Amino acid sequence: MLKGKRIVVGITGSIAAYKVPFLVRLLVKEGAEVRIIMTPSAKDFVTPLTLATLSQHPVIADPFKADNGEWNNHVELGQWADAMIFAPVTANTLGKMAHGIADNFVVTAYLSAKCPVFIAPAMDLDMYAHPSTQNNLGILSSYGNFIIEPQVGELASGLSGPGRMEEPEKIVLMIKDHFTNRLDLNKKKILVTAGPTYENIDPVRFLGNRSTGKMGFSLALEAARRGAEVTLVTGPTHLIALHPNIHRIDVESAEEMYRACMLEAPTTEIVIMAAAVSDYTCSRKSTQKLKKSSAPFSLELIPTRDILREIGRQKKKNQILVGFALETDNELDHARKKLTEKNLDFIVLNSLNENGAGFGLETNKISIIDHTGTAYQGTLQNKSVVAEEIIDFIVKNRTIQP
Ligand code: CTP
Repeated sequence: MLKGKRIVVGITGSIAAYKVPFLVRLLVKEGAEVRIIMTPSAKDFVTPLTLATLSQHPVIADPFKADNGEWNNHVELGQWADAMIFAPVTANTLGKMAHGIADNFVVTAYLSAKCPVFIAPAMDLDMYAHPSTQNNLGILSSYGNFIIEPQVGELASGLSGPGRMEEPEKIVLMIKDHFTNRLDLNKKKILVTAGPTYENIDPVRFLGNRSTGKMGFSLALEAARRGAEVTLVTGPTHLIALHPNIHRIDVESAEEMYRACMLEAPTTEIVIMAAAVSDYTCSRKSTQKLKKSSAPFSLELIPTRDILREIGRQKKKNQILVGFALETDNELDHARKKLTEKNLDFIVLNSLNENGAGFGLETNKISIIDHTGTAYQGTLQNKSVVAEEIIDFIVKNRTIQP
């Protein structure tokens, strides 16, 4: 399945480097041509001789000079590769990759990559959980790199938790999967909405909700990786989306989101409304900051326009409409009602009753409802995996027009 595929494996200085010879052996067995690059400190964990023997090619570890005195050309390697796998990746190298600090051959090769890039972090659980590591992973993922989530288990420190590099067999499966499934949304136009909306009360206050935008951004990224031309209409969020196939439109209020979506929707083949759009807005927005007084204060709220319902009303033949529903009670009934009333093909049901799933969290658990009932039941997963599940479901269950 990987016959003739040209794969660069980049190794950094983590104890998990001992697994890389197995990874290389599996890739070679699958028919891939493998080139190994490593950081100087990776050599403390696994020897270039072992790796050169397994890959049948010299290993590059020096940033500039090969053993024969020639210049090590990272640009050439970037052009040559069909995929790059960086495994294991330390917190240090993650930071360098995310911020373009090219002080070794591994990072220069990463920055020269023209192909899909897979990153398998490995580190102690506290280092992995640290906000700087998580931010760097977020940045790398937003660049379109595939993050191979570390597994939970015993770590070199003796502690136990997330941080173990994924097993070589699984990494190879992911790479194979990538080469077979990839580009199943090539050139399809997709509209994704994400995040909350802010409804102004006065110049400094607003009504909002706890949505972070993570689910919508993960969906946009997954569709973009599969070749779709994605328009991402997002409410206020700190998330970044730099994949070249994503055209981002920032909005603030439900009305602004409505206008942006109504312009885009008629020309898109798939619409995925993951945004948590406010159902109400203030009837009057004060232009000056409201002053407090001792008297009770009330706001008059009026309904916003339901974007998805309107897109459903104007739905084109062959257009696929996917909504989200966040429910706390009678989940299935409410979701089904929204599916029919908004003229949708599928509705993704999030339950607030599920531990570890929902707003502000890294993980989610969804089910997908179609007109026959529950068509897909997921498990608790990282939101990027959930995005993959949702896109897979849409691709498999609806004929995408050629
Ligand atoms: N939605 C929308 N425009 C709105 C409100 C919601 O497009 N003004 C979309 C959401 O993005 C989501 C779906 O409708 O895809 C369902 O949103 P939800 O808030 O769960 O449902 P509502 O229809 O607003 O009903 P309720 O809040 O009463 O549950």
